[in-house]
Amino acid sequence: MDILTVNLGNRSYDIVIGSGILSGIGEKMRQMRFSPKVCVISNPAVFSLYGDTVMSSLEEAYLECFHVLIPDGEEYKNFQQSYHVVTELLGNKLDRQSCLVALGGGVIGDLTGFVASVYMRGIHFVQLPTTLLAQVDSSVGGKTGVNHHLGKNMIGSFYQPRLVWIDTDTLRTLAQRQFLSGMAEVIKYGVIWDGSFFDYLMRKNQKIIGLDRDALRTIIKRSCQIKAAVVSQDEREEGMRAILNYGHTIGHAIETETNYTRFLHGEAVAIGMHLEARLSRILKIADDGTVSRIREMLDVYSLPSALPKDIQCNALFKHMSLDKKTLEGQMKFIIPEQIGKVRIQTGVHPDDIKEALNPA
Ligand SMILES: NC(=O)c1ccc[n+]([C@@H]2O[C@H](COP(=O)([O-])OP(=O)(O)OC[C@H]3O[C@@H](n4cnc5c(N)ncnc54)[C@H](O)[C@@H]3O)[C@@H](O)[C@H]2O)c1
Ligand SMILES: [Zn+2]
Repeated sequence: MDILTVNLGNRSYDIVIGSGILSGIGEKMRQMRFSPKVCVISNPAVFSLYGDTVMSSLEEAYLECFHVLIPDGEEYKNFQQSYHVVTELLGNKLDRQSCLVALGGGVIGDLTGFVASVYMRGIHFVQLPTTLLAQVDSSVGGKTGVNHHLGKNMIGSFYQPRLVWIDTDTLRTLAQRQFLSGMAEVIKYGVIWDGSFFDYLMRKNQKIIGLDRDALRTIIKRSCQIKAAVVSQDEREEGMRAILNYGHTIGHAIETETNYTRFLHGEAVAIGMHLEARLSRILKIADDGTVSRIREMLDVYSLPSALPKDIQCNALFKHMSLDKKTLEGQMKFIIPEQIGKVRIQTGVHPDDIKEALNPA
């Protein structure tokens, strides 16, 4: 078992990573002395796989638990579902000392965190992430929220969990496309922070894709370490936390343009990472080798790197200028200088952006 800490003063918390540790969650929560009432929030697909293990572990630790299920899908990460959860919590008399447990991917984690942040002005919550994306990204760092029909993640809060408990064995039931999409965020950490981790991802690609236990533990641990280091320095994204958005300026525009249906999040980010690396080369910051190493890595993990021909560069450009992270018309790009080091770049000329999106 590996234990990392996200250092945020009195809101610090541990990330525990191990294989087969799901059944230990009850004992761990008992040791943390939460009040005995616990509500597990999940969806039917994940709960049918892991609900019994989690509920019996909590019960064996003498915690009084019940569960609430949300239908599976991003479209249910909304205000109505969070209202429904609150109704269930009130009906079951959860009090201010109680704890919520998010069992699932990023959708369940974001919604549970959001409810935890507003229920009776805030109660404890614990993350049990079951997708690679949730294990390396969304469960750590305290961004919570739900979608509004006018925009994704438009209602939310910064609210940290009390514990992140990662059982890498849950990835064995995850669809391979979902796993590989999560790998895009793992590759991102290599590019923004750690060149030797990037090399490891290339060297061990077969083991990683084959879900080798040690390799999974290594990549999840290193990803969480990097995310924790960034978040500890800039919890509310007032500065350097923005480097976690490498690939996301263009990636989000692709997701918006394709109505979130054609690409999984990591797939859109993969294209974004390649195109933002290309932008860096156009700006004479990165060299050709850097761009091609990123593209080769995406190929190895069967992730897309090119923009499909039917996606118009002007449409993407428009989405980027309307993005919530674009301040006063200034688009922000995270630009690799080399593998392992990025810079935050504003004031990029529109012609350079268009050239990166649409090579001649
Ligand atoms: N809070 C943050 O910092 C942050 C960061 C990145 C993404 N997100 C959010 O995360 C969400 C996406 O998360 P996601 O990619 O985990 O998607 P998801 O939660 O929709 O899960 C993907 C699919 O996998 C299924 N699933 C989950 N675990 C499984 C398992 N172990 N075995 C089999 N099936 C399993 C789910 O039921 C779902 O159908 C988005 O809403 C995004 O906005 C948040
Ligand atoms: Zn992302």
